[in-house]
Amino acid sequence: MRDGLGREVRAFAAGKMLAWAEAGVGHAVFNQPDKHNAISLDMWDGLAAILDEFAADPGIRAVVLEGAGERAFVSGADIGQFDAERGDAEAQRHYERRTRAGRARLAGFEKPVIAAIRGYCLGGGLGIALAADLRLAAADAVFGIPAARLGLAYGYDMTRALVAAVGPAEACMLLFTGERVGAAEALRMGLVNRVVPVAEFAAAAAALAAQIAQNAPLSIRAAKLAVAAATADPGLRDMAGLEAAIAACFNSADYREGRSAFREKRPPRFTGA
Ligand code: COA
Repeated sequence: MRDGLGREVRAFAAGKMLAWAEAGVGHAVFNQPDKHNAISLDMWDGLAAILDEFAADPGIRAVVLEGAGERAFVSGADIGQFDAERGDAEAQRHYERRTRAGRARLAGFEKPVIAAIRGYCLGGGLGIALAADLRLAAADAVFGIPAARLGLAYGYDMTRALVAAVGPAEACMLLFTGERVGAAEALRMGLVNRVVPVAEFAAAAAALAAQIAQNAPLSIRAAKLAVAAATADPGLRDMAGLEAAIAACFNSADYREGRSAFREKRPPRFTGA
């Protein structure tokens, strides 16, 4: 289907996930606005399917995750499914298995991912944002981890990402209190990279994605692997993969193009090869 701006938008998870692409940037949209974009099980499957397509498309150089509407990025897991899908520890293990594909797809995604955050970014929604490489927040963004108010707990991966971003003391503050913090406080603690006034947010997100999409894809891939290695548990560092990615840069046509463009004082045209 085409949206109001004439973009070809594809629906996943019965329309609760949307995907569109423009100018080298793939957009995955959490689209359950009547629940502040709470993420249900089928939305995890939809996210994995969208990321598979973006990974396979060489024309996509960067991915933006965003929430539909103006009020939320993602308000966490869909609590409406908790009785049926997460009622006790055994059900939770099943729920974890169901969401694993989507979480693993996002965690291992090869291309740069930006979380563009307006409004509520809570619980599992914050987990999704933390799994992105960059977090751009609008001034109206609100962050929090209400697990202790609900009686549930998050697994290791999300907590590790949280601690890597804000350090253990701020992580404990967010986890123990369950309190919500605004964009300025989130910026102070390192939860987000930048905060942008609401009126400038869409343009800022588009400009950031475009800037990254224009850069050399193999360089960014190597950088992403290096950052992942720097923050991974020592036994899980993919040093061989990183070395291969660095070698691929130095052997690439894009590296030659980068040098030529510099000499000729013109913008480079990278192809990812
Ligand atoms: N799962 C399911 N439904 C959700 C939801 C979630 N995570 N977050 C919001 N909703 C629903 C509300 O139940 C409400 O539905 P209703 O209109 O049928 O009553 C609708 O979204 C609008 O939310 P509402 O609470 O009326 O909006 P608000 O602006 O007053 O508050 C929040 C917004 C996000 C602060 C509040 O909805 C909230 O605390 N949600 C739960 C967040 C959470 O605990 N997430 C972690 C889950 S692990």
